[in-house]
Amino acid sequence: MTTSILETKPMTSEQLILAETDGAVGVITLNRPKVLNALNPELMHQLAEQMEAFDHDESIYVIVLAGSERAFAAGADIGDMADRSTIEMYMRDQFATWERVKKIKKPIVAAVSGFALGGGCELMMHCDVIIASDTSQIGQPEINLGVMPGAGGTQRLTKAIGKAQAMDVILTGRFLSATEALDAGLVSRVVPVEHFFTEALKVAKKMATKGPIALRLAKEAVLKAHEMHLSEGLEYERKLFYILFATEDQKEGMHAFMEKRKPEFKGK
Ligand code: CAA
Repeated sequence: MTTSILETKPMTSEQLILAETDGAVGVITLNRPKVLNALNPELMHQLAEQMEAFDHDESIYVIVLAGSERAFAAGADIGDMADRSTIEMYMRDQFATWERVKKIKKPIVAAVSGFALGGGCELMMHCDVIIASDTSQIGQPEINLGVMPGAGGTQRLTKAIGKAQAMDVILTGRFLSATEALDAGLVSRVVPVEHFFTEALKVAKKMATKGPIALRLAKEAVLKAHEMHLSEGLEYERKLFYILFATEDQKEGMHAFMEKRKPEFKGK
């Protein structure tokens, strides 16, 4: 059978991600353990589909994205790319699927352990709160393969940790330890390896007790900090803040505070 270079649709029915729910949290686990969760186009397709399904599911407020203890993800699938030509890479545009992950509106908590490299680091940076185990090794080693990051690494890493550190990581291909990543502002918290998933779930569950509309708009506003100049960003934030006064959750949240009780958010 001949395959077209334009083909981006899934070719197998293998489950390359696992999905489950825990209350208002949707949990997605990458499931290619033999290749350290290398991100091939089929996996990214399944991931985008599931993320969109959770994003549209009104009973889900927060998403957790996890890898395994050994690897969050060791990058884009090298075997899948090694012999491709420029035109093949350009025409199939494998990173277009990543745009779908970028567009997810609900907050995503990453549960990271072991290797988060290349596309794995880039996928991690698509998430909003990053819980990393103390065994995490994070980097953009594409330079060792004769290429460079292609799924946002040069932009997001530089914004996250600054030019000097990003240049060091991207141009030498060295891995950051969990503590270095925390100090550089690349991850949110570092926890002992045995707790990395439970801690991420705990953080997600705590977030899921908040008003879901406020969560979404707050994520949207923080992401604008990366995309806009300060004055536009401030204006954008102010608009979203005022918009939240059209929700029942804002009335409930503020009244509950004044009445010294816990708020009951409804997502309205
Ligand atoms: N793609 C495909 N397969 C991969 C992979 C990847 N990115 N990373 C690891 N694997 C496979 C290995 O080939 C190996 O398979 P076999 O058992 O069939 O040989 C298996 O996973 C286990 O890996 P190792 O035996 O190498 O395990 P290790 O503990 O000795 O080393 C590692 C772990 C340091 C992560 C090493 O596997 C490695 O360097 N991986 C590649 C990391 C990398 O370069 N990532 C960037 C990819 S390009 C990219 O991501 C572009 C982009 O911008 C999106």
